[in-house]
Amino acid sequence: MRSVYFAHLTDIHISDSDESWGTLATQAESILRNTFARLDVIPDLDFVLISGDVLDNATQAEVAVFTGALRTLGKPWHYIPGNHDGFYDPEKPGAYAPHEAVPQIDPRMASPVPHAQEARWSREVKPGVQLIGLDSRLPDDWAGEVNAGQMAWLKAELDAAREKLVILTVHHPLHPLHPRDNIGWFTKFFASNGEEVERLLDGYPNVRLVLSGHHHAHRLICRPGRLHLNTAALTGYPCLYRLVRISEADGGWHVEATTEHAAEEDLVLRSRQLSVESFVTEAFDPGDRYGWVNFLAGKPEDRAFSGLI
Ligand SMILES: [Fe+2]
Ligand SMILES: [Fe+2]
Repeated sequence: MRSVYFAHLTDIHISDSDESWGTLATQAESILRNTFARLDVIPDLDFVLISGDVLDNATQAEVAVFTGALRTLGKPWHYIPGNHDGFYDPEKPGAYAPHEAVPQIDPRMASPVPHAQEARWSREVKPGVQLIGLDSRLPDDWAGEVNAGQMAWLKAELDAAREKLVILTVHHPLHPLHPRDNIGWFTKFFASNGEEVERLLDGYPNVRLVLSGHHHAHRLICRPGRLHLNTAALTGYPCLYRLVRISEADGGWHVEATTEHAAEEDLVLRSRQLSVESFVTEAFDPGDRYGWVNFLAGKPEDRAFSGLI
């Protein structure tokens, strides 16, 4: 019986400057190292999945912090890029371009050159278990999409993996996580053609899990036969990562998903304050000072799942 057990963490935002999007910036290194240390001692953990925005300003110093922390992790790991993992921005003169930063984070993505929409991969992580990574970055925008070339590639990969359990990861969630996401720049919090991607996935009932980040919000959404897990930022309120076990069971797949805090309580409280003071709070709901942080944290049912899908 197939079974796979992994950790999902995302949006580390290692920053050599001030906080960004409410994340803890310079504390990111210790939070990441502590998280890796905790994951390293889980004997049956198969891999660690990192779904983008490892960096914040994409500088050489930020890359060095990540690669230094990574050397302490003894587990297999997989990474897909986010919109902070490289910039074409004249106001960020110290930033690597996206196609320069990504191979420094993960040398497996050196070829083809990982321009936006090109840093995709498909890997058999255990016998009969295929992990597929999509690249939802746009060349110069924090919004996301999965372009026609990737849609065709994804379909071919899914056709080739019909007999396997498929787990998909993509930086941008495939759908809004809140009604506010349908208005103005909040639409950049999810992939613009996510519906189209979901329609394709609907034709492949062996795709059981979709894991994303980017929104920095903790959400667990049940589709028929498939779970979509959006995980909060590792270093932004409430500083979480997930542990997910999916096992073949009579009549389907059993999923056990739990949520762990990545930081001590004082840091979590500090991250909460940063998010309350962030400009997003006002834009999300001008009438509720705590609307945004409560949304980020999710509800108990977003944190834990145990059942057959
Ligand atoms: Fe992010
Ligand atoms: Fe992002």
